[in-house]
Amino acid sequence: MSATCSGRLRGVILPDMIDVAQARADTLGCESVAHLNNAGSSLPPRQVVDAVVDYLRVEEMMGGYEAAAHAGAELDAVYSSAAHMLNCRPDEIAFTANASDSWWRAFSSIALQRGDRVLLGHSEFQSNAFGLLQAAERGVLLDVVPNTPTGEIDLEALDRRLNDDVKLVCLTQISMANGSIHPAAAVGERARSVGATYLLDACQAAGQLPLDVEELGCDFLAFTGRKFMRGPRGTGILYARESIHDRLHPSPFVDGRSAEWTSPMTYELQPDARRFEFGEQNFAGKIGLAVAIDYALSIGLEPIAARVGELAAELRRRLRYLPGVEVRDEGQHQSGIVTFTLDGHAPLEVQGELGRHGVNVSAPGRRNAQLDLGVRGLDAVVRAGIHYYNTEDEIQRLVAVVATM
Ligand SMILES: Cc1ncc(COP(=O)(O)O)c(C=O)c1O
Repeated sequence: MSATCSGRLRGVILPDMIDVAQARADTLGCESVAHLNNAGSSLPPRQVVDAVVDYLRVEEMMGGYEAAAHAGAELDAVYSSAAHMLNCRPDEIAFTANASDSWWRAFSSIALQRGDRVLLGHSEFQSNAFGLLQAAERGVLLDVVPNTPTGEIDLEALDRRLNDDVKLVCLTQISMANGSIHPAAAVGERARSVGATYLLDACQAAGQLPLDVEELGCDFLAFTGRKFMRGPRGTGILYARESIHDRLHPSPFVDGRSAEWTSPMTYELQPDARRFEFGEQNFAGKIGLAVAIDYALSIGLEPIAARVGELAAELRRRLRYLPGVEVRDEGQHQSGIVTFTLDGHAPLEVQGELGRHGVNVSAPGRRNAQLDLGVRGLDAVVRAGIHYYNTEDEIQRLVAVVATM
């Protein structure tokens, strides 16, 4: 993608690093809707949609197994593309169905015993929480590390909790419910200091921030294809550090791709991250996700993060001017996720009104994020997830509708 202008905010011209006009031309949905629900599911670029549809057409004409054999290199591209994005090896990447699938495959391969301690932050999503709560039912001890008053994981409180009994540290890098970016690399350093496994949920971070597993120090990293990554629905990635494979339990999800049935009473897991995959996959989605990752890399995750941060800050600034609106974001470092409430109107009502005006947002509730919303006494919030292909005009459309309410 060529680099030209990217827009003007608060009188400041953003770095000339993203060709927003080209990105919007690639995104057909931009013609009909102001899509500010990228934290739910982004509008994919047409390159991604074309790759998926083209593959389905090959399947239609050839048959599923034959199409997969024919497209071997394109299917394998997802491993090298994800590895390139995360700074790891392709054989440390597993292709999955979504972020929860990735997280659960990782989590269930960690051999937790009764009495082991697990530290977690406040931003765990419901599916991760269910895994952790099930472990607690088996006698694993959960310890929620508090946030600082500004809303990111409190590293001093984490330090006070770290000892040799801590077997696992779970962190969600960006809160889906308040947009805070937690200091994931600092947590990684600390987890490593006591030999704990570090499972990072980067579901809302992938596609909006640069991610480097060496800097983050994580053993596992999970994300989904459809959010800021702009990939197809029903796709996900799990990074699993090669050096921890030996200390893992076999995941309970094993088939003929993850393992080999070596004799009537024996089997062997694959030596690499393929042990986390099933053979039956969303093949079209796999090709589409590789294209989505390459698309993001061609723009650059640094410029994406810069533009997303600027646009989101601008939306927060404008919302704060509106009477009755309270911006609910937390964190010293804030992401493209902007959350707010409006006096006298339930978040779902605000979402509905915005939808009628062609502005897509979502309204996550405490059931999705008990620690990030419930603990703060919030039932739900309106959530805009801003991406680099959004514009100042689209942000203003949201603000104008909320103002009329
Ligand atoms: C932070 C976070 N983690 C995990 C998930 C689960 O993602 P998926 O629906 O792809 O399983 C979500 C979904 O909203 C999320 O926001």
